[in-house]
Amino acid sequence: MLVIAMAVGAQNEWVTIQNGLLWKTETGDVVQAHAPGFLKVGERWYMCGEDRSVPFSPDVNLYSSTDLQHWRFENKIIKNRVTTEELGRSRMIERPKLLYNAKTGKYLVWCHYESSNYGASEAACFECDSVNGDYRFVWGGRPLGIKSRDCNVYQDTDGTAYFISTTEENQHLGLFRLSDDYREAVEHTQLFPRQSREAPAIVRLPEGRYFMFNSACSGWAPNQCKMAYTMNLKEGWTPLENIGNPIAYDTQAAAILEIKGTKATTYLYVGDRWQDPSLPATKTIIFPISFDGTECKFEYHERFDINFETGEWRETPTEGIFADNTKWKTLEQDDEHITIDMGKKQSIKGFIAKPREKAGERWLIRRYQLLTSKDGKTWDTASEGRWLPYWTEVDFESRECRYIKLVSPDARMRSVEEVVVVKG
Ligand code: GAL
Repeated sequence: MLVIAMAVGAQNEWVTIQNGLLWKTETGDVVQAHAPGFLKVGERWYMCGEDRSVPFSPDVNLYSSTDLQHWRFENKIIKNRVTTEELGRSRMIERPKLLYNAKTGKYLVWCHYESSNYGASEAACFECDSVNGDYRFVWGGRPLGIKSRDCNVYQDTDGTAYFISTTEENQHLGLFRLSDDYREAVEHTQLFPRQSREAPAIVRLPEGRYFMFNSACSGWAPNQCKMAYTMNLKEGWTPLENIGNPIAYDTQAAAILEIKGTKATTYLYVGDRWQDPSLPATKTIIFPISFDGTECKFEYHERFDINFETGEWRETPTEGIFADNTKWKTLEQDDEHITIDMGKKQSIKGFIAKPREKAGERWLIRRYQLLTSKDGKTWDTASEGRWLPYWTEVDFESRECRYIKLVSPDARMRSVEEVVVVKG
């Protein structure tokens, strides 16, 4: 009986993933694993990434979780000055990505291995006998002599693995087939010549079609995500097409995860919301995307629910979380303010400023103030900052009020489409 009850319970377990917040470990530390790489071992997701607590010389941290929300720190798997002499001196790591080689039984990290002015343009490979041990340096340099920067890996269903990187001074994408032991690049295919794309992430659908998502090269600033597909990794890629809003909802692609369950498979886009508001506070953003033939629905979700047992996802039921804003009156709206009468006094403890779908980066509000008032005359500051995190719940101390005013001192209020408040 008990076993059945637990099984039923597990089926009904919806985990809410709320975007835009800093991820914390079980012990309360900030998860530092940016530009993450993932590997599923049994029921656990392992995630390695850049430790940007030292902003420009990241070590590589490894965490694990069964629900992508509760993270356990596993190990600092690659350490500056320890793993290799030059790491933390003349080289730094970006975009570390995990692979498991079933033939050798080894775990590998492939990454961008770079000098401070990005002139080295190298890749590196590290290896370990266990997923969470200390990784050993295997090799660093230009794969097949080709200048290589931003990168990812892809392991195909037949076990062939690829390193994909932005090549020759950010001009092309290079698809490098790896040797059987995944320790070196053995074959190069140039993709998307002279299109200057980076941050590639590939997923294969069951019918055998590969989709690639990638970004333009604009440093930490977000830009338009594009997508292409093919039936053969080495050729036949369609022209890149725009997907999502002009700044990929303030993210840059890191991975596409497949959550295979008993009823469905959900595909999760994982991206970095860099410098939100500083490099160490970069957020990991996850939202479900779906495919229909050659179409991909790529829409941001500030939060959503996922069931890791069944593989299904749903919109998070928000009754009880957000105040009903359908009867609100906008009293004033110009480039600097939006003032709203919520119709009645109520207790609130947070807000989300949703941007217009087409609001590009230069329209984003950076300095903001959120004021509240009981009578529309005397105002208190509930929240203010040097960076308005769009698409993210901003919380403050619970308070009673009827009026709210969002102020943009940099006069970009027209980028806000809707203000939602969180009930107190
Ligand atoms: C981005 C790249 C990041 C990092 C950054 C440095 O374009 O995706 O991985 O290299 O530039 O400015």
